[in-house]
Amino acid sequence: MIDLLVRNVTLPDGRQAMDIACVDGRIAEVAPAIKGDAREVIDAQGYLVSPPFIDAHFHMDATLSLGMPRLNNSGTLLEGIALWGELKPLLTHDAVIERAMRYCDLAVSQGLLAIRTHVDVCDDRLLCVEALLEVRRRVSTYIDLQLVAFPQDGFYRDPSARTNLLRALDLGVDVVGGIPHGERTMADGAASMKELCEIAAARGLLVDIHCDETDDPLSRHVEALVYETQRLGLQGRVVGSHLTSMHSMDNYYASKLIGLMTEARLHATPNPLINITLQGRHDTYPKRRGMTRVPELRAAGINVSFGHDCVMDPWYPLGQADMLEAAGMGLHVGLMTTPEAMRWAFDAVTVNPAKAMHLEGYGLEKGCKADFVVLQAKTPVEALRLKPARLKVVKGAKVIAEAPERVTALHLEGRPGTVNGADYAPKI
Ligand code: FE2
Repeated sequence: MIDLLVRNVTLPDGRQAMDIACVDGRIAEVAPAIKGDAREVIDAQGYLVSPPFIDAHFHMDATLSLGMPRLNNSGTLLEGIALWGELKPLLTHDAVIERAMRYCDLAVSQGLLAIRTHVDVCDDRLLCVEALLEVRRRVSTYIDLQLVAFPQDGFYRDPSARTNLLRALDLGVDVVGGIPHGERTMADGAASMKELCEIAAARGLLVDIHCDETDDPLSRHVEALVYETQRLGLQGRVVGSHLTSMHSMDNYYASKLIGLMTEARLHATPNPLINITLQGRHDTYPKRRGMTRVPELRAAGINVSFGHDCVMDPWYPLGQADMLEAAGMGLHVGLMTTPEAMRWAFDAVTVNPAKAMHLEGYGLEKGCKADFVVLQAKTPVEALRLKPARLKVVKGAKVIAEAPERVTALHLEGRPGTVNGADYAPKI
């Protein structure tokens, strides 16, 4: 007996009129006109079915705190960090959980079912760590939540960060984080990469570093990160997040660096919405875009994901947990508007972050987890254009969220009675 049968879907690879049969929480078959009895049947009406959206870089401890205790007036990363520092002593365990749970509700409504969130460990109470461990437990049946031990105030610059990071890992935080450009000197930044990668290697953990989130072209900690990745045999297990200094680097050095990143099988996670608003703030005109060199990283075979990073917090006042918004901004900022590049941008919020986060059973093939989203769009590129309704969000073969089709009634003489954005599908 089939638990859930989804009929007449279009797949991200372009196959149309396909059915997806789910048994015991897994995909049992993907084929045209599947036969057999099913407990539940969904007619997808030819719409696109995608594996769930994934956010490879987020800050759930800070989300939905916009305006607490005040707004970021300069719009800079540094004022955001200072503001977060003002807010930290005012946080309570329950309030952090409440904001995070509300964000997870929003994420589910957008088909966002896997999130890697950094959690600030620079607080002797480890309040955010304990709150997000509780959130991870509460959402575990519907969101894959990975926690990164993030020393926001610097692994060396904050005198207790080292101890607190190790305590957070002992409590069950999944991934080792860092912020080398936040240390006092370039030498300290490089030393932090060495020690943090050694901690990860000794404990068998993944690494995800806020690396060179600055407009300073001489901020070159990604070089130290890939060196330590190679030295410790961590290839494929390390993510460089942001990497914005690469935007401003000398082209010759960048060409060497990208080769080193490829050798180390580093994953890259730029955060386009945040990079385009936080970077370039010290410029007059022209103002730099700040996002790292995504087309060049892609061309070198590096696995690139787009993260959201922030939603309504000290660094970013907007956002709605829609990874298509992050991908759409990424393709704009990266000038990636060929059909092939736009199609790739959809992968940058689905299959690419699944690789970076080492997610098991992700995808739409037989044997994968029965987790997917029915979108009111016919192709991945159209999904990027429309930011469409998530008609059904399915987790473990169960519908956990659904929304009506977005159709507007039109009251114009001689014109059609309704408008559905998905009827304007591009022929590319
Ligand atoms: Fe971040």
